[in-house]
Parts: sequence; C-alpha cells; structure tokens
Amino acid sequence: MFRIDVDNINGKTESLYVFGDESILTELETHNVLINYSCRQGHCGSCILKLVEGDVLHQECLVPLSKGEILACQSKPTTDIKITIKD
Ligand code: FES
Repeated sequence: MFRIDVDNINGKTESLYVFGDESILTELETHNVLINYSCRQGHCGSCILKLVEGDVLHQECLVPLSKGEILACQSKPTTDIKITIKD
C-alpha cells in the first residue's frame, strides 16, 4: 500500500492510501480530490501534476512534460508519493 500526499487547491495536504493498481487520477477521484482532466488517455495534458517526492510508473504519452511533471491519468504510484496540483 502506498500513501499519496496531495496539496489540494485550498493549500491543504491530504493523505490517501492506495494499492497502486489504479491511475492517480482515478485514486484522486475516488477520494474526492478533484483535479482537471478531459481525455483520460494521455492526450490532452489537462491532468498534469507535479511529482514532488517518490516514483510512479508512467505510461507512454504524447504530451510534452517538463521535469517533475506527470499525467495523473497515465501514472500509478510505485512508492509513497507527494504531488501538487500544477498552477
Ligand atoms: S486527462 Fe488528458 S492527459 Fe490526462
């Protein structure tokens, strides 16, 4: 089981506990942490988050990502992670 610490839009850090078998987007939705998304397929880039700590398994995607950025719909945690909603 992994912990996801996420800084939400209100500036509060929430901790979610997940098994790592679902995308980060799905896990955030399940735990009522809302982020932007659209395609859920790694094409639109609207679900970009910043990975502050930890590692994820990231699927191939066409969206150009800067260092430290991940797509929530295309990544699953492989360790405890800390993420922030991109501003
Ligand atoms: S929702 Fe479109 S890239 Fe993630």
